[in-house]
Amino acid sequence: MHNDVERVLLDEEAIRAGIDRVAEEVTTAFNGLDFTVVSILKGSCIFASDLIRRIPIPLELAFVSASSYGDGTEAGKLKVNFLPAGNEIEGRNILLVDDILDTGRTMHTLKDEFTSRGAAIVKSCVFLDKPSRRAVEFNADFRAFEVEDLFVVGFGLDFAGRYRNLPYVGVLQPEAQERVARSAEEARIAQSASA
Ligand code: IMP
Ligand code: MG
Repeated sequence: MHNDVERVLLDEEAIRAGIDRVAEEVTTAFNGLDFTVVSILKGSCIFASDLIRRIPIPLELAFVSASSYGDGTEAGKLKVNFLPAGNEIEGRNILLVDDILDTGRTMHTLKDEFTSRGAAIVKSCVFLDKPSRRAVEFNADFRAFEVEDLFVVGFGLDFAGRYRNLPYVGVLQPEAQERVARSAEEARIAQSASA
């Protein structure tokens, strides 16, 4: 798997430092408030689990799943699932956590959803921010790193479901990207043929 990576953008040490800093900012902002960290699956599970262990004040944890990407690198439609139950949202202070803020659609949609379900405060925290890709206006309240307009994998971020378990953030070799895309496409065809 490591051989598929052309370039490492953020190594483990840089990531640790970035999460330390953002965890401190979140701690200061939510100190004295009851709040729920909502990790947006699947991508943010690695970041969220590191983040909350560095926030030394009481919090609760919940999950939603949102997918805007299919198997490729182009944005598709957003599907939202497993929203926390009403009593986990109404009147609660929420911190939405995502792996990357790209077009902004996921965060924009989820913030509206939580606000309309009666959340008191909805703030957002992202591991990576790609401001150059924004399609809807959205700024994260907290972010660990800004990245340029490159498709990145690792530390929760996937390409066609793979590479989430890389402990750093990197850019794939074009050959690896083509190979994985091809095998995902073959799996999709085989599955629809047997369905
Ligand atoms: P948004 O709704 O366009 O802001 O998309 C956010 C989602 O797109 C993220 O949670 C990721 O799942 C996916 N995404 C955007 N950019 C990348 C990338 O560079 N690598 C992997 N996934 C990405
Ligand atoms: Mg994804």
